[in-house]
Amino acid sequence: MENRSQWGTRAGFIMAAVGSAIGLGNIWRFPAVAYENGGGAFLIPYLFALMTAGIPILIMEFTMGHKYRGSAPLAFRRMNKKAEFIGWWGALVAFVISTYYSVIVAWAISYSIFSIKLTWGSDTEGFLFGEYLKLAEVPGQIGGLVPGVLIPLIVVWALVFIILFGGIRKGIEIANRICIPLLIVVFLIIVIRAITLPGAMQGLDAFFSPDFSAMLSPNVWIAAYGQIFFSLSIAFAIMITYSSYLPKKSDITNNAFIVGFGNSGFELLAGIGVFGILGFMAATSGLDINDVVAGGVGLAFVVFPAIINELPALNGFFGVLFFASLTLAGISSLISISEAYVSALVDKFNITRAKAVLIGVGLAAIVSLLYASRGGMFFLDNVDYFINQFGVAMLGFVEVILIAWVLRKTNVLKDHANRVSDIRLRAWWTISIAIVTPIVMGYMMFGLLKMNLLREFNTETGNYEGYSDVFINFSGWGVAIGVLVLGIVLALLKWRSPDSLADYDDK
Ligand code: ALA
Repeated sequence: MENRSQWGTRAGFIMAAVGSAIGLGNIWRFPAVAYENGGGAFLIPYLFALMTAGIPILIMEFTMGHKYRGSAPLAFRRMNKKAEFIGWWGALVAFVISTYYSVIVAWAISYSIFSIKLTWGSDTEGFLFGEYLKLAEVPGQIGGLVPGVLIPLIVVWALVFIILFGGIRKGIEIANRICIPLLIVVFLIIVIRAITLPGAMQGLDAFFSPDFSAMLSPNVWIAAYGQIFFSLSIAFAIMITYSSYLPKKSDITNNAFIVGFGNSGFELLAGIGVFGILGFMAATSGLDINDVVAGGVGLAFVVFPAIINELPALNGFFGVLFFASLTLAGISSLISISEAYVSALVDKFNITRAKAVLIGVGLAAIVSLLYASRGGMFFLDNVDYFINQFGVAMLGFVEVILIAWVLRKTNVLKDHANRVSDIRLRAWWTISIAIVTPIVMGYMMFGLLKMNLLREFNTETGNYEGYSDVFINFSGWGVAIGVLVLGIVLALLKWRSPDSLADYDDK
């Protein structure tokens, strides 16, 4: 008897999967990563990663969720009993991401309000780090909670609680049906305004001018793969979980293409909007475009407020629109990230959804307080780097090796997807999953490990400047290795739900 919750409609599922994919990664991270990695030259590795890893793995995860009908631990367990820990590893990576992702959404809420009166003043950097975050002086210090961050953070978690309590159809599906259309309309307004500003073309030129020498650097490829994984919400348990709620007769491959291209389309649009605005800033301030671009936090929360100050008209209005779009995109992703571990708790421990939400989301909310402390941003920066490289990207690599080479399930999955989908999977899919992705990612992971173990890193990106070894080891390696170890422990615990090992490969 199947009593797993289900999406109400195909559009509901697509909207939820797109809502998961489009998030802070698209607006907050992509433009800066693209710029740092050679502008136009980044688009080639990016599209390569999308076509050979992003979409093929998305199809693989949709098929796993649909076929094995479970959250990541249950889906892996049904595929092979010994593989359960991989599912837990993914669910725990999602847990860690949710603890700091929620805090960035909280900042976006604060900034939506600050926009109304341009509260940040003219020194936007001083405002962010000093007045708003009250940043501690030394990385690793915690130093008390910051009320200005804590209050919107409580709002964020309250929303996640309410939506996840509501369940799949009445909670997640409805929330996405509201957030996603709204987000697209708001974002289109921003992009149109951005590209019609004076100087915008200079910005777009910087975004699209290829720096081919950058393509030879392995770091550019690592960044492209990392961006695709994070942005598509793959390799951290989410898409397996979401597709486990699909009705039996549902298309897989076509849905994956819609989600994959929808997400990248939005990402490119965000890049165009952001660079248009940066071009305007460069033209207004007389600076070179290189001097106005900043990475991650700096771009959205320092450079943008400065630009909003300079807009010719309706400054506050555009500020509200921009930070509201960041909030909407963030919330719809955060609910999917949290659902990944809530669903795993329900499946393994046979508890009610309400209890799983209380335990899972409650714990995440408590841990997130660390990032709402005065030292929070340093932890956020370091945990984000390590969990992405040695959580998400590493997991993607392990997942394809396991499925293609250890358990040899590519054909089983391919047949399953072909049975229900409009578009048939052919050799390109198998070659991508079994050969191209393992080779490219194997090479990348080797380089990445070497770089991090030998500490050869980040002099050029400025990451880790001022971070002590103890801090890097504890909040970086400690967290990345911790989630794997805890994943193994959770997999060893007794499975409490009935019927967890029916032979799904015969169906
Ligand atoms: N896919 C989500 C994002 O891009 C996590 O932010």
